[in-house]
Amino acid sequence: MSTMRALFILSTLASSVFCWGNLGHRTVALLAEQDFTEEAQAFAKQLLNGTDIDTAAIWADKYKDTPDGRPTGSWHFVNANDTPPLACDVVPRRDCAQSCILNVIPNMARLLRSLDTTLPEKMEAFNFLIHLVGDLHMPLHVEGLARGGNDIHVTFAAEPTTLHIIWDVHILQKRAAEYGTDERAAAKRWAQELHNRSYDLTSRAAGLQHYLSDPHPVDLAQPEEEILAWAQESNSWVCRYVLKDGQTSVSGRELSGGYYEGAVPIVDELIWKAGKRLASWINALAAEQSRSPVGP
Ligand SMILES: *[C@@H]1O[C@H](CO)[C@@H](O)[C@H](O)[C@H]1NC(C)=O
Ligand SMILES: *[C@@H]1O[C@H](CO)[C@@H](O)[C@H](O)[C@H]1NC(C)=O
Ligand SMILES: [Zn+2]
Repeated sequence: MSTMRALFILSTLASSVFCWGNLGHRTVALLAEQDFTEEAQAFAKQLLNGTDIDTAAIWADKYKDTPDGRPTGSWHFVNANDTPPLACDVVPRRDCAQSCILNVIPNMARLLRSLDTTLPEKMEAFNFLIHLVGDLHMPLHVEGLARGGNDIHVTFAAEPTTLHIIWDVHILQKRAAEYGTDERAAAKRWAQELHNRSYDLTSRAAGLQHYLSDPHPVDLAQPEEEILAWAQESNSWVCRYVLKDGQTSVSGRELSGGYYEGAVPIVDELIWKAGKRLASWINALAAEQSRSPVGP
């Protein structure tokens, strides 16, 4: 784990904008923490080893920008080869031939459950899990068109940027601006506000609702199906909002006005779901471990 700590320091030099913004990841982790059972609190405490959960939640983006972490870059998304806005769909066999977010999240859950995983490996797997569940709830991390919107140039408050980056960063920052400019404090307040609200946790992705009743028993033995259901829901927003009038309707446009206003409730709902779902998994992992404790 000393290499991991070294990377924390090293990576503060590198900046990453091609992943869901730190603000979103912090908010998801802090929201999840509010729902932790006592077992989950102890489980997380051991794996975080003194790091705050919202800080651990942004480690994976910094790691992927280091030489050792470069191969993990593809873990943060899946390039759904669908045809928005006509048809949105995620097909693992078509879209995730190698390592992508759809199979990496289940693998991290497996590492956390395995008797053969060392404590440092579990700590790293935990950091990936709490980060990647966030990324999965960013619609353009579950879309291949124009490299997930990275190739669609737009402006936001007159600043030239891309559609991907506004969904990663700008929309979230503007949404949370009322909570102040300190990122961690803003994430805490946003998480609190979302914690006070209630949304329907059920996925709107057709055909997969039965995995998502709330509260539902997390099936740790078959994590892929639930992850796919969450991915389908995120991806469905690409057709329902992000690119609902096609690429040309956003390309070159200023998106901090009406487009932003329409995005806010979607972002709130997805961040809330990410936090709740992450908590349900960590609670399940912790409950399983407390039934059959694994020494470090
Ligand atoms: C946990 O943190 C302590 C204090 O920083 C450190 O000495 C220890 O090596 C860490 N444990 C692991 C497994 O990284
Ligand atoms: C959340 O709800 C609690 C209890 O009703 C309240 O005290 C707190 O101010 C609320 N926080 C936010 C940020 O809405
Ligand atoms: Zn990421």
